[in-house]
Amino acid sequence: MTIVHEKTSTQLPGIASLPMRDFKTHRDNFFDKMENNSIAFFSAACEVTRSNDTEYAFCQNKNFYYLTGFNEPDALLALLKIDNNQQSILFSLPKDKSHEVWHGRRVGQDKACQYYNFDQSFVLDELTSLVPEYLNNLNQVYFCFDNSEMSQQVFTWLSHVRSTARQGTKVPEVLIDASPIINDLRLIKSANEIEVMRQVNYISGLAHQRAMQKTAAGKFEYQIETELLHEFSRHGARHPAYASIVAGGDNANILHYTDNGETLQDNDLLLIDAGGELSGYAADITRTFPVNGKFTAPQKLLYQLVLDTQLTVIAAIKPGITFAKLNQIANEYLTQGLIDLAILSGDLAQLLIDKACKKYFIHGLGHWLGLDVHDVGDYQNNENKEQCREFVAGMVLTIEPGLYMPNDDYELEEQWRGIGIRIEDNIVVTEQGYENLTVNSPSTIIEIEALMNDKE
Ligand code: GLY
Ligand code: MN
Ligand code: MN
Repeated sequence: MTIVHEKTSTQLPGIASLPMRDFKTHRDNFFDKMENNSIAFFSAACEVTRSNDTEYAFCQNKNFYYLTGFNEPDALLALLKIDNNQQSILFSLPKDKSHEVWHGRRVGQDKACQYYNFDQSFVLDELTSLVPEYLNNLNQVYFCFDNSEMSQQVFTWLSHVRSTARQGTKVPEVLIDASPIINDLRLIKSANEIEVMRQVNYISGLAHQRAMQKTAAGKFEYQIETELLHEFSRHGARHPAYASIVAGGDNANILHYTDNGETLQDNDLLLIDAGGELSGYAADITRTFPVNGKFTAPQKLLYQLVLDTQLTVIAAIKPGITFAKLNQIANEYLTQGLIDLAILSGDLAQLLIDKACKKYFIHGLGHWLGLDVHDVGDYQNNENKEQCREFVAGMVLTIEPGLYMPNDDYELEEQWRGIGIRIEDNIVVTEQGYENLTVNSPSTIIEIEALMNDKE
């Protein structure tokens, strides 16, 4: 198989962000789900203090971003549907020269309507006077119940309207959780969203290639982390989608290892779980490879089992299938493989009933992916905690089987101990079956060893 081996190009295919009209389409799709004579509120994120007067890199609230494309803190979107007339209204911080000279430009109200297609735009301070006016005579209010600050704000507005209600005014009595509605909208990606995700996967694949080429015994894990960040950023994915996991040897057996502070050892594997974020959309890719560029015999056996499991599961993806069914395929494949390696012993059927492989495959098989790395969307668990939602075209998900054999598991033969392996790709469900977005992160043993030994 040919390795996609791009070293210098920043001319990546596809779009790097959604066109503004797509955010209006998202709002229109939400309006379609709203009852007549109702209002919905979505708040932007606030900046978060790191220490004293410095902040963490700003990350917009993803629901707010999905509906607006607007990337400033301290803003609020109101979607007002009256007599089947739809108004999207943005409240945001005002233009302010003295603030902007220190902290950066703000969009302001005029440009909000011009560039972001809002019907109206006001400064944030006008919320207090305008929202009670909107609420008068409406029937329903939508907001995300899991957003405690927004919930508090809505209750304050409602009690204000109630306390000032004149005879004949009507206060909305029905509160509706917006989360399940927006979660379902976000779960099915448009062609443009998929294109951005295709691109961020490609960028992240280049980063994984770079990491493989820069890895050597004696380097610190964080030195490899910086290689990933460098490659994300130089192609436009300015932030990682989540804290990168760069875990040498036994550290791979800590699932959310992000310390990345140890030195890499000859003959160990290195597990890297890292993806960039592009225009808000995440990639989530894991690769595991030998620090010195050559798998040992036991590493090879376990690695090939995880890879074959992953490829078997991915091949089964199509509309109508469920995570529950994919889990069954993965568990069957892994269990048989572990029997073949004499890591498990006994009757296959009984081992499957006992879920014996879960001793070594200690996390879920995959999850939805999108604006969030663990993206929103119900999995529709049944009473057996099986994820029974049928896949439809436009869903994006990860498939990430793994095997984890810690150093201190003395039930295992010594040759397996200290090995942790995960292989994770990002998949779009299509009408015909699936498309694997993770096209340029080597995953076969031949590809990995070839790339790692080509360090010119
Ligand atoms: N990177 C987190 C996960 O794979 O779920
Ligand atoms: Mn994942
Ligand atoms: Mn991951």
